[in-house]
Amino acid sequence: MCGIFGIVGSKRKELGRTLLKGIKRLEYRGYDSVGMAALDKGKIKVKKAAGAVDKADKKLNFSELKGHIGITHSRWSTHGGVTDFNAHPHQSCDKNITIVHNGIIENYEEIKSDLIKKGHKFRSETDSEVIAHYFEEKIKQKPIKQACVDFLKEIEGTFAVLMMKNDEEKIYALKRDSPLVLGICEEYNILGSDIYAFSDRTDKAVFFDNDEFAVIEKDKYQFYDTKGKKITKKIQTFVWEQEESLKEKYPHFMIKEIMEEPRVVKRLLMSLKTDQKDNFNKFIDMIIKAEKVIFAASGTSYHAALLGVYYFHRCSDVCGIEAQALIASEFEHFANVDSNTLVIAVSQSGETMDVIEALKFAKKRKAKIASMVNVPYSSIQRMSDISLQVLAGQEICVAATKSFVNQVTLLLSIAKEFGFKINLDTLSERIEEMLAKKDEIKKIAKKIYKNKDLYVLGRGLSYPVAREVALKIKEISYIHAEGMMGGELKHGTIALIEKGTPVISLISNKDYDMLSNTKEVEARGAKIIKVTNEFDGDIKINTSNDGKFGVLAAIFGQLLTYYMALELNLPVDKPRNLAKSVTVK
Ligand code: F6R
Repeated sequence: MCGIFGIVGSKRKELGRTLLKGIKRLEYRGYDSVGMAALDKGKIKVKKAAGAVDKADKKLNFSELKGHIGITHSRWSTHGGVTDFNAHPHQSCDKNITIVHNGIIENYEEIKSDLIKKGHKFRSETDSEVIAHYFEEKIKQKPIKQACVDFLKEIEGTFAVLMMKNDEEKIYALKRDSPLVLGICEEYNILGSDIYAFSDRTDKAVFFDNDEFAVIEKDKYQFYDTKGKKITKKIQTFVWEQEESLKEKYPHFMIKEIMEEPRVVKRLLMSLKTDQKDNFNKFIDMIIKAEKVIFAASGTSYHAALLGVYYFHRCSDVCGIEAQALIASEFEHFANVDSNTLVIAVSQSGETMDVIEALKFAKKRKAKIASMVNVPYSSIQRMSDISLQVLAGQEICVAATKSFVNQVTLLLSIAKEFGFKINLDTLSERIEEMLAKKDEIKKIAKKIYKNKDLYVLGRGLSYPVAREVALKIKEISYIHAEGMMGGELKHGTIALIEKGTPVISLISNKDYDMLSNTKEVEARGAKIIKVTNEFDGDIKINTSNDGKFGVLAAIFGQLLTYYMALELNLPVDKPRNLAKSVTVK
């Protein structure tokens, strides 16, 4: 969470515009506030305000910032409210040091009280501000590089920090656990939270590893380890499809990304037969060799993983793959991991801190690590023994849609190798047919968007989908929704069903138990929306295959959510309080 971006070597008059463009590309990481600092003629000028980039820019006109060096930040608040003061950059008392930070300084209170005793005055409620004062204090006694070494030793927590000094044409960059990457361009160097920050400018990147710092200049850079010893890093060349970051003819990224689903599914399936074939086979081999598979994932990716477990267990009539899915933030409390376990991380961003922590825990216990990630070169991909790409392309709307569809397609492709019966060649066509039902779904949205609560019921494969549909409705339409096991409702929650409460029921094939659960709530006055491939229903799903039903029912939920949010006039792509990449625990 939080996006950071910096440039060394900009053309003087272009600095503000470049910073603006860079931070807009990272805004999906947080949009509570935005700020910039530009070094021009030995003086650092800072502009910052609460609100998303466009709003803050109208107020402050970032483009007028000049200079050759600048840093910028878009915030997802952790310590301190959404205010102008808490926006980054933060400065030292003498204004010689200016920083932006993504992460959490865990021992900030201790450091802050020590600095206050030494006379430092703090202007914000953030943990991040201590960084500026810390360096101000340190460089009174030692060179800044030595202060960076001390920082890595003394600071607890997570950080990607960019730091400027009034009297140096350089950016100092430090990283632990929060993502940071250097983009190498011909006439300048760029730093960003991920490669999206600069993928329109270069395809050459150097990824920071944990507990490293670097000094970046216009035409050179140097990385250092925890002892301040120089290290040589590999330059990676990455491939990026530029057109995907544009909204094109669509009013929102969410609907654009949903409409891309048939295409990205085809692309993924093709890659598994070509570019990713070797890796795919190795992945299968690792599953064969493991005694059990445990998925680690969060949010929507967890729902994909849960579906994966269902499909993995049904790979053969006798016994499928031994698999379990755990929510990453609880992984270490519930996982029983050893060297015969294969832990599979499922993550769109590849940066989710809870998943990274789960993988660290698994690594310590000698488990093998595999992953399925959408953002290439992400931390999770780089810490895996093997990784498959989800290939959904850049997803800009905060809610995951096409990445979920491709995660599930990838899991189905693996399950198929072990005997799960499905013809994936027609999946893309079935998705097209589902998307063509958008007007029917819009009508349902118009009927239920005013409700305060609703329930989504599923059983077996439709249970993870029910959870996913409910999550989409909550985060984008701000309607309280619960995704439940149909059989569990009668054990308590049914007390909440009143006359007119909408209940979406997902019934795949001849699931008579699910049908009975639906009748039970209908008898208590619920307004039923039946999504089924077998019975009479409000939305008919055109497949008899359980694997495809899961994908198509989830797409129904994505469209329903989108149209409800439109009725409610909500900020579809940037829902309140959320961020696309969750890099805090
Ligand atoms: C929901 C959503 C989140 C993410 C979750 C995990 O639409 O996007 O629930 O699924 O934060 O993120 P990744 O997949 O990046 O690990």
